[in-house]
Amino acid sequence: MPIFRKRKITTGVATVCKNKKKDSWTMNGDINRFYESKQLVNSIFKEKDLFSKEKVNNIMFLGPGKGEDLHNWKKTFKNNKYKTSFDVLGLENTITESVKKDIVNRDFSIGRPVEHIDPTRDSRDKRLFDHLNNKYSLVVSQFGVSYHTKHPSYNLFASSLLLKKEGVLYSSINSSYIHLKAGIIKYNRVNSKIHSKELDKLEKHFHKFVEIYNKQKKTNLKFEFDIRDIDNLFYVRIKRIN
Ligand SMILES: C[S@@+](CC[C@H](N)C(=O)[O-])C[C@H]1O[C@@H](n2cnc3c(N)ncnc32)[C@H](O)[C@@H]1O
Repeated sequence: MPIFRKRKITTGVATVCKNKKKDSWTMNGDINRFYESKQLVNSIFKEKDLFSKEKVNNIMFLGPGKGEDLHNWKKTFKNNKYKTSFDVLGLENTITESVKKDIVNRDFSIGRPVEHIDPTRDSRDKRLFDHLNNKYSLVVSQFGVSYHTKHPSYNLFASSLLLKKEGVLYSSINSSYIHLKAGIIKYNRVNSKIHSKELDKLEKHFHKFVEIYNKQKKTNLKFEFDIRDIDNLFYVRIKRIN
């Protein structure tokens, strides 16, 4: 089974890609996003041995929007005496000039969603993939690649490949996944069957992707997977343990 193939995307993501229009989301990486994410930041800083004081810590933000909140992320790392290098990848190049100039090392956005990046068929995608693979101590995606998607488990898997060993990813998922599972809300047109199927199988599908990838690439990647409720927002936390 080919692991990388063109998957269906949401109408919102398709509109952004088709019109090449600048991302215009409600939550768009404004400066205040950082203050709304305080609990997430606390959880990340509690991760034992995740960051090094000696080396540069590579950090990737998937779906940064304007990325203005990254000013504060950088400040927090600096206050904790960590050296950092921030990269971003979203649909379009949407970070503001000051974020580009002062914070971000590279913006890897190529105008296409994660679901369409295929290193087995496209040489540019392969270069991108080889460059990002196995590189980051921390990957964060807030209302990004595993939120605006019909394939959260695949996008979580693809995002996890960016982690180096012992690296950790926090990626927000639509709370309807959790609420459907708990029976708090019922299926409707928005939370279509494809979503409910994905919800039940989120972790199982994630590990299946890893298993197939390991077989095809002759690797032995291993990940811990859990879902965390952080300040009423749901994040999948994935740690690469091998
Ligand atoms: C709603 S904005 C969130 C911005 C910021 N992280 C925040 O929380 O305010 C969504 C971001 O995710 C990116 N994005 C959404 N779906 C994506 C996908 N399937 N593949 C790649 N990027 C995606 C968009 O380009 C945009 O940067």
